[in-house]
Amino acid sequence: MSAPAEAAFQRCINPACAATYGVAEILTACKACGELLDVAYDWNRQTVPQKLTAFERKYATRRYPLHFSGVWRFKELLNFVSDDKVMTIGEGQTLLRPEGECARYCGLPENTVFLQYEGLNPSGSFKDNGMSAGFSHAKLVGAHKMACASTGNTSASLAAYAASTRSLPADQRMEALVFVGSGRIALGKLSQSLDYGAKTIQIAGYFDDAMKRVREVGKALGIYLVNSVNPFRLEGQKTIMYRILEALNWEVPDWIVVPGGNLGNSSAFAKAFQELKELGLIPRIPRLAVVNASGANTLHRIYNELGVRWNGGKYDRAAIETFYAQMDAEKRDANTIASAIEINRPVNLSKCLRALEWMNGVVLEATDQEILDAKAVIGRGGLGCEPASAASVAGLKQLVEKKIVSKGERIACVITGHELKAANATVAYHSLHGEDLVHELGKYGVRENKLANYPVQVKNDLNEIIKAIGDAGHGSWDA
Ligand code: F0G
Repeated sequence: MSAPAEAAFQRCINPACAATYGVAEILTACKACGELLDVAYDWNRQTVPQKLTAFERKYATRRYPLHFSGVWRFKELLNFVSDDKVMTIGEGQTLLRPEGECARYCGLPENTVFLQYEGLNPSGSFKDNGMSAGFSHAKLVGAHKMACASTGNTSASLAAYAASTRSLPADQRMEALVFVGSGRIALGKLSQSLDYGAKTIQIAGYFDDAMKRVREVGKALGIYLVNSVNPFRLEGQKTIMYRILEALNWEVPDWIVVPGGNLGNSSAFAKAFQELKELGLIPRIPRLAVVNASGANTLHRIYNELGVRWNGGKYDRAAIETFYAQMDAEKRDANTIASAIEINRPVNLSKCLRALEWMNGVVLEATDQEILDAKAVIGRGGLGCEPASAASVAGLKQLVEKKIVSKGERIACVITGHELKAANATVAYHSLHGEDLVHELGKYGVRENKLANYPVQVKNDLNEIIKAIGDAGHGSWDA
């Protein structure tokens, strides 16, 4: 279904400003007040199904790429672009799975903890949901050079989408330029952007440095930016929530738990539910928990320690500025094994404050020890993840301990990235003992690996092998 131009537009999220812009403008902030932008819809001019079950009909026509895509199947809810401009590589074929190991670990009943596994996307992380929408907007405005700063997954996704245009006629090709912090990116992710042919700039510094530079370079060279300050990207990420609802037979869960880095996901999720509620398609909005890594906990500190709230858009900007000034003065760098969320200046901070208000949210921080233990629990369920993703389950455990989540509530934890993105951390956790473990992971405060599944070293000898099998683990293979 094509999108009538005037039925979708961009709007400043600051209610006191609320300036609007057409969808054909390339913006990452409001020209009037500098705040972030939303994609907004005149729902009266959009054709939205009266019931969410109507989306299921598209399964019958999955040969059509827009119906195959787990993003564009919901196009009526992100209808800012005509069908012929949509760029899809088959993103969003993901899975919501009840996870007994995680439920037990968090002290919750079976069948109440669900993992929304976004590692199944073509580039192995949730980013493809947003990248598909960002690329579609780029096509709409005729952009051909695309850039991002990244902790690794946005860049892998950008590289994959750009690569998908390589065999198209020259005027339809898109090129990828990625900025990453040197040495701050998991090898699996770096390998993707190199392998898919993206121009990869490794900046001596952190993600926050790369982000600052890519904005400058984007402006200087007129390159289209696909970081999550791009409001169109977040429209794609809304669909993760639609798929959770769909998997629950359109019943609203009680909680959504998500790791927080640049805070694009949390912002997008709240917008998804707010819109569905406004459209009368869901009766209520679930609660949101955003989980920072302790080594990159800006949101936690601003929300929980400084008490900053969205407050109808009148949030305490001065308190945030002072916080950042102090962070710079103290040279407090982000440091976490969850490198995907090793971010000190989340670009969507204000949108996330709004999300927390819309979803009656809470913010937590999890140590790297908690993150790696939770990651081992997730892995035991058979769908492994990278460290950042496990912050969700680590956070859920805390929510139960703090009695914020109660038994019987249904929780969807978003598992944002695939296990193989960052295999080093996994192998270190499961293979190192004592001093060696502390030597490797002590800089992240990780000192134990009580859920380790050690590989068994054995001579190439049948008797020795059989003996080793008998002794393996704790006497049982499923200890
Ligand atoms: N989980 C993973 C695996 C990520 O890659 C990211 C962000 C997040 C969680 C945090 O999501 O930013 O929406 O709060 N990765 C970005 C990147 C920053 O460059 O790949 P968020």
